[in-house]
Amino acid sequence: MTPLAAGHRVVVSELGETPPDAIEHFVSVVDQPAPDPAALAPGDVIVEVKSASVGWVDLIMSSGQYQHVPTPPYTPGLEYAGVVRWKGSAAGDHIQVGDEVIANGALTGPRSLGDHRGWGGWATWAVAPGAALMRIPGSLTFDEGCNLLGNYETAYHCLIARGQLKAGETVLILGASGATGLAALQIAKLVGATVIATGRSADKLALVREHGADHVIATQGEFKDQVKALTGGRGVDVVYDGVGGAISAEALRATAFGARFLIVGWASTPFVAKGKGGRGAPNVNQLPTNLIIMKSLDVLGCPTVIATLRDPSIRAPRLKQILEWAGQGQLRPHVSHRFPLSAIREAMRAKWSGEVTGGCVVHP
Ligand SMILES: NC(=O)c1ccc[n+]([C@@H]2O[C@H](COP(=O)([O-])OP(=O)(O)OC[C@H]3O[C@@H](n4cnc5c(N)ncnc54)[C@H](OP(=O)(O)O)[C@@H]3O)[C@@H](O)[C@H]2O)c1
Repeated sequence: MTPLAAGHRVVVSELGETPPDAIEHFVSVVDQPAPDPAALAPGDVIVEVKSASVGWVDLIMSSGQYQHVPTPPYTPGLEYAGVVRWKGSAAGDHIQVGDEVIANGALTGPRSLGDHRGWGGWATWAVAPGAALMRIPGSLTFDEGCNLLGNYETAYHCLIARGQLKAGETVLILGASGATGLAALQIAKLVGATVIATGRSADKLALVREHGADHVIATQGEFKDQVKALTGGRGVDVVYDGVGGAISAEALRATAFGARFLIVGWASTPFVAKGKGGRGAPNVNQLPTNLIIMKSLDVLGCPTVIATLRDPSIRAPRLKQILEWAGQGQLRPHVSHRFPLSAIREAMRAKWSGEVTGGCVVHP
């Protein structure tokens, strides 16, 4: 094997008070020596990273405001795509040297719990256990591949496993132009639901329409009456809420009696937990219980990774379906922003400020 050349990696030296604080003070790009195969385990694989996703979870992890707090200094990058450059004797036959692969962020990198949590994807080189890698499905590019698993698995877990969304039902997707929102939009259409999608700008609404939304609604101010008008006065059967805050309360008012309200995230209120990994929930989100009872709503918490850690059996059918859809070209992540790894702070700022639609990636 030809010796691997040294590269670069991103380091978060200390958790920020907020993600912008981490970006400005604690994020840097440093040299990275190439991994030495002689020092790795037989189950390990060396991946030359070609593209790594800059996701919302990567951002809130940098201030310790995500449920899983990394120990700094660490290299972020939950999900990446690249080329296998070396594999150990026990890494499995499902991937070979030269294969183009994606990494499963639950099993390797900073969101994982085992020995590979130090190998984040914001780097030239990553080392992962063979079991955490799979070939890129279908004709997805590296940029699309590293935006597949987390986003679509989240959307599937929320809409299908928890929400039981069925053909013919109507779902209101809040924050539909986001990474998980666009995934939810595509999956809802694949199961035959009618989608009402929200967004804060005309550009974002145009994009979600291009991705198949049946109706779009701007979320400046009240929108309950528009949703009611689009559903014959009935309200929606399911709400997919990755946004939280005031928009959640308005969406509750737009539901049908007995609807399912899926709590996916709270992009509009990211400072629920204390900064610097201080935990607790001083700014806890709140929903109006009077509306929940009068409308007989099922409010369902949908933490994908936590639910899967507790019951790993829920993952296989989800992955099978997503890889099948992606392999057939029925799912394709949208990536609006691309940066070199050296511009990581710019990439993080773009994601934080809401300029990005779908995915944002960095190229080592
Ligand atoms: N349940 C799970 O397992 C799971 C998994 C992954 C992520 N999440 C959570 O889901 C949420 C969304 O994640 P994502 O990756 O889709 O994020 P994202 O790509 O940043 O998208 C968030 C969307 O929220 C909308 N939004 C509305 N008000 C906002 C505000 N004030 N600030 C920021 N965004 C606002 C934005 O759309 P407009 O600008 O058009 O309104 C944006 O498209 C996050 O809270 C994340 O932590 C949950």
